[in-house]
Amino acid sequence: MCGIVGYVGPRESVPILIEGLRKLEYRGYDSAGVAVHEKGETRVVRCQGKLANLEKQLTVTKLTGSVGIGHTRWATHGRPSETNAHPHRVGGVSVVHNGIIENHMILRQRLMATGRKFSSETDTEIVAHLVDAELKAGVKDLGDAVRNALKQVEGAYALVVLSDSHPDRLVCAKVASPMVLGVGEGENFVASDIPAILSHTRNMIFLEDGQVAELTAQRIAITDLAGRPMSPPVKSVVWNSTQAEKNGFKHFMLKEIHEQPRAVTDTLRGRIELEQHDALLDEVQLDPATIKKIIIVACGTSNHAGMVGKFMIEQLARIPVECDLASEFRYRDPIVGPGDLVIAVSQSGETADTLAAVKEAKAKGARILSIANVVDSSIPRASDGALYTHAGPEIGVASTKAFTTQLIALALIALHLGRKNGKLSKEAAKQFIDELLQLPIKMKEVADQAAPLQVLARRYGNARDFLFLGRGINHPIALEGALKLKEISYIHAEGYSAGEMKHGPIALIDEHMPVVVIAPKGPGYEKVMSNLTEVKAREGKIIAIATRGDQEIGSIADEVILIPECASVLSPLLTVVPLQLLSYYVADFKGTDVDQPRNLAKSVTVE
Ligand code: M6R
Repeated sequence: MCGIVGYVGPRESVPILIEGLRKLEYRGYDSAGVAVHEKGETRVVRCQGKLANLEKQLTVTKLTGSVGIGHTRWATHGRPSETNAHPHRVGGVSVVHNGIIENHMILRQRLMATGRKFSSETDTEIVAHLVDAELKAGVKDLGDAVRNALKQVEGAYALVVLSDSHPDRLVCAKVASPMVLGVGEGENFVASDIPAILSHTRNMIFLEDGQVAELTAQRIAITDLAGRPMSPPVKSVVWNSTQAEKNGFKHFMLKEIHEQPRAVTDTLRGRIELEQHDALLDEVQLDPATIKKIIIVACGTSNHAGMVGKFMIEQLARIPVECDLASEFRYRDPIVGPGDLVIAVSQSGETADTLAAVKEAKAKGARILSIANVVDSSIPRASDGALYTHAGPEIGVASTKAFTTQLIALALIALHLGRKNGKLSKEAAKQFIDELLQLPIKMKEVADQAAPLQVLARRYGNARDFLFLGRGINHPIALEGALKLKEISYIHAEGYSAGEMKHGPIALIDEHMPVVVIAPKGPGYEKVMSNLTEVKAREGKIIAIATRGDQEIGSIADEVILIPECASVLSPLLTVVPLQLLSYYVADFKGTDVDQPRNLAKSVTVE
């Protein structure tokens, strides 16, 4: 996620902007920049990399002025580079932006047809062009120019506009991306997150979707997009700076679990074609006619996403899919070559084993598509095409929102391949898309069930071992539940296909063994139920993840966590959430270092 800071008042703005951006560093970024009004003109300094680079640059290009905006960019559209860094300046207009402009392609073409030239690959530059066009067309008020521009924009944004024509003010607006205004005395602030401005004021206005704010040193005026005045309340923020970084959550992992509905929405944004009932994946150009088989390579949690992806692609597009642990792939002389599509899944895009697998497959002539969260990281760079998840930076070592957004990327690939090769009818695709679009709300419902999971964590948190069982598309979720629990709580846990239990792990079951069973309604449900009777007969403690309305499961399970109904092929996006929360609360109960568990690194760059 990118970071925004803006200042208007009597003080020098650059130190305030840099200090604010530094407070947002924890969110991750790959370039940074500031724009400051100086004697009738705005000057911009940007650079790739860390804030230290920007500060160094600012010792060479000195900016002075008391109205300014700053930004740290986490690349989503366009590589991390100085030209793609914000602020984007067009004519006299400078813009910083968080979020995704969904209709950026259409707008870019429309603006280019009027003779406008673009200097970056970003969607943000479009906003600067639109506002500039309004001002050039004679709109006198900067607020009006921004409102008019935003009426053409679809998507998510938190943005701040600075214009040479109105040197005493900032205009800010937001839809579906956070933005907070800091109310000072004779000065005002804006930021994408509280920590950036908390040292200056605790009086804050949380902008609502569709609101536009105009900030001068003396006043803040807020309207809706139609220009009607609004007066959202000023609230006093009592958090300390660490609490503010975590948005009030105790750990980043918990924050990231709760961010999943937003992350999934962002990953879907602009990628659904409602008329043809297809996925819009122009960035990767997939043609099922040229694909003999698909091989998914990944490690850890990303491997579990790949295993779910196999079910999705085989079900929707009927193309055979193999899943390989990237760490094993190249050592087994894999049968891979021209006509094969290798999909590498990696949050960081830097995992050494996955990168090595990509190179091996490429050398043997396969086409490589990567699914990654970090734009322009090594794995996408080594691939023929990349589909980026828009989870935003994941700070907790235990992967959560990266995983669910990888599932969305795989679901979109499955949908697109199925539509292109005709294996998925329009009606079935429509239903699938409806289900996809409902996921964020359903995921939020599941994530909001903290209390029962906290109770379970206390009840079972002292167990020595856990068993996780699931079947079919939820078998990888059993593996993921076990991985999450062991990596952050240090409790030994195993994930198994429920059908395999009787072939070994059943020997472990006694009254001390909690068995977490993923049992949503759908194919395999009856089989899972019969596996549960085997657990029950050996006095194992059953914690079931089941579908709301299930009348049967309560008679056999000791504990039941309910999820909303959804299509089986998408059920992993819901069933995984209680498992993430269970692991989190067990780890918290045990007092481990949840965000940085022992012996683990966020990005494993050694083989
Ligand atoms: O960055 P990647 O997705 O390639 O990372 C792969 C694994 O190292 C990662 O998923 C790891 O298993 C997580 N810590 C699990 O939570």
